[in-house]
Amino acid sequence: MSTTDKDDELTRRQFLLLAGRSAAGAIALGARPGYGDDQPDAAAGEAAQAADRGAVRSPVSFVVNGQARTVSVEPRTTLLDALREELGLTGPKKGCDRGECGACTVHVDGRRIVSCMALAAMQEGKRITTIEGLERNGQLHPLQSAFIEYDGFQCGFCTSGQIMSGVAVIEEARAGWPSAATLDVTRRFNVNDLTKAEIRERMSGNLCRCACYPNIVDAVAQAAKSS
Ligand code: FES
Ligand code: FES
Repeated sequence: MSTTDKDDELTRRQFLLLAGRSAAGAIALGARPGYGDDQPDAAAGEAAQAADRGAVRSPVSFVVNGQARTVSVEPRTTLLDALREELGLTGPKKGCDRGECGACTVHVDGRRIVSCMALAAMQEGKRITTIEGLERNGQLHPLQSAFIEYDGFQCGFCTSGQIMSGVAVIEEARAGWPSAATLDVTRRFNVNDLTKAEIRERMSGNLCRCACYPNIVDAVAQAAKSS
């Protein structure tokens, strides 16, 4: 490439950079090139919003599986995306991304939540547990072992969410929480009252496309007795 070509190339690049900046500025200011002033331009609005969103990232610190972690996230970033994309914890799965399947279930301060419906920026100072943090000293959690023993999965996509929910179900039963299937809510619930109907109702937020439900219920029942 001759010096002249190189200079031309730089000039073209500089021109494109300047043109791009001008267009972004026009979009941000609400200008609508090529349209009448009264004509809605949803694309320009979305582009301006995307530019705004991309410009703001804030640090959030929490404890994940016993380790203090800090990530930089946009206000719209879900806890699920922060765990998977920023921390590489891919145990929580993105099934529906709208709170319907339970594949993304994690524990926050000991309570189960669907992490696709929680904003990462709101978890400052929280204690988060994912399936990766369930084992203790190299030993599987009793419910993990029960899933293996009772064949509680086929493809495995829903399994981390099922196990995180199941662990919470057992803790909720131990804490005496009734469910919609509890026949007598006037007396304190006991973990020994955890029938299969109770387990099915308490696990109803976790879907399994492979329909392993009977095996999952058996695994939770077994772990409730042994853990
Ligand atoms: S991915 Fe969160 S509930 Fe389905
Ligand atoms: S094991 Fe395949 S979706 Fe549950």
